[in-house]
Amino acid sequence: MALLDRSNGASPDYALRVSDVSKTFRIHHERASSLKAFIAAGGRNRYEEFWALRDVSFDVQPGEALGIIGHNGSGKSTLLKCMAGILTPKSGSIEVTKRMAALLELGAGFHQELSGRDNVFLNAAILGMGRKEIAKRFDEIVDFADLGQFIDNPVKTYSSGMYVRLAFAVAINVDPELLLIDEILAVGDVTFQAKCMEKFVDFRQQGRTLVLVTHDATTVRNFCDRAIWLDHGSVRMEGAPADVVDSYTETMLGAETSAGAEVGRRGDGKLTVDTVELLVGGVPVDRFHTGDDLTVRLHFTAHEPVDKPVFAIEIASLGGATVTAPSSRQADSTPARVSGSGRVDILIEDVPLLAQRYVLHTEVTGFGRQHVYDHLQNARTFDVVTGTSRETSGVVTLHPKWTITGDGVETA
Ligand SMILES: Nc1ncnc2c1ncn2[C@@H]1O[C@H](COP(=O)(O)OP(=O)(O)OP(=O)(O)O)[C@@H](O)[C@H]1O
Ligand SMILES: [Mg+2]
Repeated sequence: MALLDRSNGASPDYALRVSDVSKTFRIHHERASSLKAFIAAGGRNRYEEFWALRDVSFDVQPGEALGIIGHNGSGKSTLLKCMAGILTPKSGSIEVTKRMAALLELGAGFHQELSGRDNVFLNAAILGMGRKEIAKRFDEIVDFADLGQFIDNPVKTYSSGMYVRLAFAVAINVDPELLLIDEILAVGDVTFQAKCMEKFVDFRQQGRTLVLVTHDATTVRNFCDRAIWLDHGSVRMEGAPADVVDSYTETMLGAETSAGAEVGRRGDGKLTVDTVELLVGGVPVDRFHTGDDLTVRLHFTAHEPVDKPVFAIEIASLGGATVTAPSSRQADSTPARVSGSGRVDILIEDVPLLAQRYVLHTEVTGFGRQHVYDHLQNARTFDVVTGTSRETSGVVTLHPKWTITGDGVETA
């Protein structure tokens, strides 16, 4: 962890600027094992320059959350260390205009022999907080870290999860304007990760800036404003998170996987669903926000007249869990008879789905639901992005309304 005030007084339009940054490491080959080999090698132990970063350039805008993804060894951690000033680039420059805190790898920043409590004071002091201020924030830090009485045990006895909770609690509580985070949150458990996500949401709402390295595509997709894909030390792609994540996962896993499983079809084919459209405000979309009014439109063809066909859709999470599976029969909207082509509009107002990727299946059956005319498994996928709800866990928001009462309850 490190807090560096490298602001230069001026107010440029970026929070951080990376210009043509390259970084090399020396890879040493085996030492010459004999004098003869040493002489043969020209009197030197040989090494190679390994380019961990090559001509990397981008800006981070104030108030944005930038996600950095890339394969193992692509240079993400090296890049963050250069940004934090822990490594010096071979060439290029990095300008930081905001008060920055960095949460890098596990093990950095804490004194192993000291207790969690002493480390909080020590760290916060190093990060530029006065003693009074630390004392004021101490409870919040300990509370967030959720360490209970372990706070007085030496840090060397902590599990990696406990360690990262404390490190994160300190970093977020020293009020950085720009926070760099490398992966490590993955070490925490699900509850802690949810807490961190909430903090990030707050952090962003306060107009602060975040750079996040993560292997979690969902986090980048749902949470970041922009994403960068590092590939063998170079920026391979930069843009909207969903686009970058899609290209990255497609390349990493092969083209089909990220588009969901293959479309599967069964049924006797008398009445088929030909296309499935998603519309918001009358416009076809692949992606929409929590809280939008969504129309699912099925274009069908009855290849011969069919009595009382039941239309159904199912929306499922990528994990396979059914989120909802309504049918026209349940809604008393089944037509008496169809022939030729037509369309089914299913209007879902104020969509309660939370930011994630979903898959949609369609089905047309007889009125008894046994006879299948057409079943389209994985008819299409779509993305929901953060909209009216600030919730980050789970699949739906139930629009909860909170009331907290009691003799000693004060309103904020
Ligand atoms: N101190 C070092 N000395 C030599 N090589 C290094 C050093 N640090 C990093 N490297 C090499 O630089 C490359 C980039 O490493 P880096 O840790 O930045 O990758 P990464 O994208 O963070 O990977 P991961 O997803 O596994 O965390 C790797 O090939 C790594 O072996
Ligand atoms: Mg790394």
